Amino acid sequence: MNDFQKELIGQLSKYCKEAIEPHMEHDDAEGKFRMEIFNGLGEYGVTGVTLPEEFGGAGLSYTDYCLILEEIAKYSVPYAVTVSVSSMVQTILNNFGNAAQKAKYLPALTSGAEIGAFALSESHAGSDAAALKATAKKTEGGYLLNGTKMWITSAGIAKTYIVFARTGGEGSKGVSAFIVRDGAKGFTYGKAEKKMGWKTSPTRELVFENCFVADEDRLLEEGKGFHVAMGGLDRGRVAIAAIGVGCATRALDESIKYSLTRNQFKQPIFDFQGLQFMMSDMSVEVEASRLMVHAAAASLDSDNPNSKLCSMAKLKATDTAMKVTTDAVQILGGVGCTSEYPVERFMRDAKVLQIVEGTNQIQRVVIARHLKKEYESHA
Ligand code: CAA
Repeated sequence: MNDFQKELIGQLSKYCKEAIEPHMEHDDAEGKFRMEIFNGLGEYGVTGVTLPEEFGGAGLSYTDYCLILEEIAKYSVPYAVTVSVSSMVQTILNNFGNAAQKAKYLPALTSGAEIGAFALSESHAGSDAAALKATAKKTEGGYLLNGTKMWITSAGIAKTYIVFARTGGEGSKGVSAFIVRDGAKGFTYGKAEKKMGWKTSPTRELVFENCFVADEDRLLEEGKGFHVAMGGLDRGRVAIAAIGVGCATRALDESIKYSLTRNQFKQPIFDFQGLQFMMSDMSVEVEASRLMVHAAAASLDSDNPNSKLCSMAKLKATDTAMKVTTDAVQILGGVGCTSEYPVERFMRDAKVLQIVEGTNQIQRVVIARHLKKEYESHA
């Protein structure tokens, strides 16, 4: 880290320790999200990290952004996820929105006054996102949106939604992207999902019944929605990977601290070689994941974003988070299974990271398609 990054992360760490950490066990049990924590992250300037200053962003790099998400995730995976999904919405607006859309929607998101959400999945269209069935039928001055969206992160607490719906025929070419605001007539929320992890981050269904969306709230032209979704997800996946690194780092930290002070057979359990090997392997995996995340982030900072590397980072870092948090629970043993220590919470949160923004099986599909293309182009 350079001096600027050290200062930034040091300040942020202090905020997370004071404002987030004390609430996490309670809020995880209650499924409670605190808007004031998100607003506080906004005051630290970390809710619009990579966005241009012109729209209230911090104008920083993806590498800086990944360091920030890693730090927040060490205290709370769900708050890091809320920041990352809202940031993905901002990136979509910045990359695909027109001047009026950026000016209208970005400042409230970059400042952390409001949250953004991304609505692609449907009950029968998860991995096969292009099979979505929600429709946007043309009407005078805009569209009538009908259908439902499932498993939407930040549903109900977000104000600005990027919603994908079908304006044309089957497949990816019939999909368009729209900006929809909380409170729009015909837009309601389904029940809050009861989840194994990310409990402080609400996940709900979105229901659209003849919801009017004005022409000016369509992103790009009709039929370009799938490109908008995939372009956003490339970046979002690196953010999820950075959160995986933070989650794993916290679990490793808890394991080392606990094993140095827990005595069995008249010695700290850290001194047993069986546990030393586990923790050495955990630290190698965490470091390898961090390096991969930074390589993917550097590609996003360059003129040549590498979509394959983004998927590789997501796959590696979130599988690492799952393995390392599971091992952490094992090292802590009985207390590891209780809420006295946070490792079981991080283990539950890690599982969700392997599924969102494209399951880790989908990441392998994306990687394999790139490999095939690369080899075919050399043939
Ligand atoms: N960037 C830009 N465009 C892309 C792209 C990318 N990374 N990847 C594909 N495209 C384009 C293709 O070029 C193609 O365009 P043309 O037809 O114009 O050539 C179009 O998209 C369709 O591409 P494919 O034929 O490859 O599409 P597919 O139907 O085979 O699906 C897939 C590909 C990778 C499997 C995709 O469906 C996918 O990523 N599925 C997973 C869905 C997903 O990640 N959902 C996450 C939900 S959101 C979430 O979890 C957020 C949250 O709240 C936490």
